[in-house]
Amino acid sequence: MTTSGSADLVIVANRLPVDRVTDADGGPGWRRSPGGLVSALEPVMRANDGAWLGWPGGTETDLEPFVEDGLQLVPIGLTAEEVEEHYEGFSNGTLWPLYHDVVAKPEFHREWWDSYVAVNRRFAERAAEVASEGATVWVQDYQMQLVPQMLRELRPDLRIGFYLHIPFPPAELFQQLPWRRQLLEGLLGADLVGFQLPGAAQNFVRLVRQRVGHKTHRDMVYLPDGRTVKAAAFPISIDVDSFAELASSPAVEARAAEIREALGNPSKVFLGIDRLDYTKGIYARLRAYSELVRDGHLDVDDAVFVQVATPSRERVEQYRILRDDIDRLVGRINGDLGRIGRPAISYLHSSYPREEMAALYRAADVMVVTPFRDGMNLVAKEYVACRLDESGALVLSEFAGAAEELKQAWLVNPYDINGMKQALLEAHRAPEKELTRRMRAMRKCVAEHDVTQWASDFLEELAATRPEHGKVVRPARRS
Ligand code: G6P
Repeated sequence: MTTSGSADLVIVANRLPVDRVTDADGGPGWRRSPGGLVSALEPVMRANDGAWLGWPGGTETDLEPFVEDGLQLVPIGLTAEEVEEHYEGFSNGTLWPLYHDVVAKPEFHREWWDSYVAVNRRFAERAAEVASEGATVWVQDYQMQLVPQMLRELRPDLRIGFYLHIPFPPAELFQQLPWRRQLLEGLLGADLVGFQLPGAAQNFVRLVRQRVGHKTHRDMVYLPDGRTVKAAAFPISIDVDSFAELASSPAVEARAAEIREALGNPSKVFLGIDRLDYTKGIYARLRAYSELVRDGHLDVDDAVFVQVATPSRERVEQYRILRDDIDRLVGRINGDLGRIGRPAISYLHSSYPREEMAALYRAADVMVVTPFRDGMNLVAKEYVACRLDESGALVLSEFAGAAEELKQAWLVNPYDINGMKQALLEAHRAPEKELTRRMRAMRKCVAEHDVTQWASDFLEELAATRPEHGKVVRPARRS
């Protein structure tokens, strides 16, 4: 058993919640990367001497733990080879497409798997060093699925939770994975395994029964050594108040007006904001919109589609191909349908700070979120949180986790181009009263389930899994 550290709550995630930047004096420094997860966990981490372990990006390997803004951060470096094999390879070339309905073809390489095992082991060993006796460790996402079991072997005194932010596939797809049993056993090291949706938890329990042979009943797995593992859904959300506050600020309001002005004051602004990822359905969505323009249902003098695509995983082949495909499509659409100063699609390949996102949400009449498969999709919830006056329409894929909550959106099948065209037009033409009715209901739903609630629901459930064992995580101090 490893000697214990001092943190009563340890978060293990592939990424640290900071980015490497160059300081004013030219030296290397850190900047907090904005994200719902860190803002949700920050208060509870502070109350529990929390530590966050993660990769800071890049290939620096000699990084020491540091405190940033009161948070104890423990960087874990990856070598160039590990970035290629663990991060780009097994995490994003194998697991990502496999877990997203095989939207792209997953690649199976034994060297990638070996690297995934080695990196997961390093994270588990480091977590074992920083966690105090009886501490709670919360492992995040698909890049870290072996950590729970590795950590339990090193530190049986810990209470371990795991949360998967992306979908968990049905058995028929998961079965393709040559290392399916090892991954399931890795996850079973946790006391509680959380998913976005109940269907994912059911997929997991069924696979454990079939592939590992453990007894299961409803959401419980019974291990031969007497331990139990619970699998349950905890749909993630956003920091609702901070988005609402941002959206109501005069600066964001002014910027939203400026954006519409810069677009030529069209009567309708459609908006898509996505990581540039093949799961997001950007290509099909832009085609659907362009056909509406081509067929005369929409006019470039009167409507525009703003598509923000945030650069992502740019060294992975499938992402490069996607970027070229979208570049070509947008060029063709604008070339065929645009007029001087009036493109059909205003395309931005860039990432923006939260203030600009909030201004875009305020400026958009119709938000279009049409992934082929998505664990949750927080953009949909952010849009709703920013529509303070209850206006605006949301067109949302049935295959985004968010569709289980945002039922008043125009729900679409992203594979059905005609269906999407129909929904875009309906959302565009909907009377104000209907828009308000739908938006009000969605706003209520988002307001009732924010990300702080998500985190405390998970941690409470985790504490309840083995009440006699370990310390209890202290609730966040209310400010
Ligand atoms: C998804 C995953 C996260 C990941 C994020 C950004 O939301 O669930 O784990 O961090 O995408 O992707 P990246 O590869 O840049 O970390």
